Amino acid sequence: MKIIIINGPNLNLLGKRENDIYGNETFNDFFERLQKKYANQEVSYFQSNIEGELIDKIQEVGYKYDGIILNAAAYTHTSVGIADAVKAITTPVVEVHISNTFSREDFRHKSYISPHAKGVIVGFGLQSYELALQSLTP
Ligand code: DQA
Repeated sequence: MKIIIINGPNLNLLGKRENDIYGNETFNDFFERLQKKYANQEVSYFQSNIEGELIDKIQEVGYKYDGIILNAAAYTHTSVGIADAVKAITTPVVEVHISNTFSREDFRHKSYISPHAKGVIVGFGLQSYELALQSLTP
């Protein structure tokens, strides 16, 4: 199975960003642990703060990978472009969020991506990514 995690804006700051909401671990440390634990899967990782780069990556992998784990971060709530890319591709997308977006501000309750995702995992901290991986792999 070829799976990619795609992270959107500001998720490169995990570990030093709003620790009360997003925890203390850097994504790189978490990703290393995940890769070790699921060594039988081919899991890669891409992060960008730029909307168009996220769309380019979704298009690039979206017809050949077995799964995409997508945390579009703030673009979740704003980006018709990312939603259209998710709709266009054939690879299943699992939308994830670290925090429970439904217990936060109203503008975080709307996701342009959810209608086109295979499923959505919200609010389990970094474990959301692991749950998404488990949902995509046999
Ligand atoms: C987030 C939730 C978004 O509302 C926010 O803009 C993020 C992270 C999460 O993983 O909890 O940057 O996607």
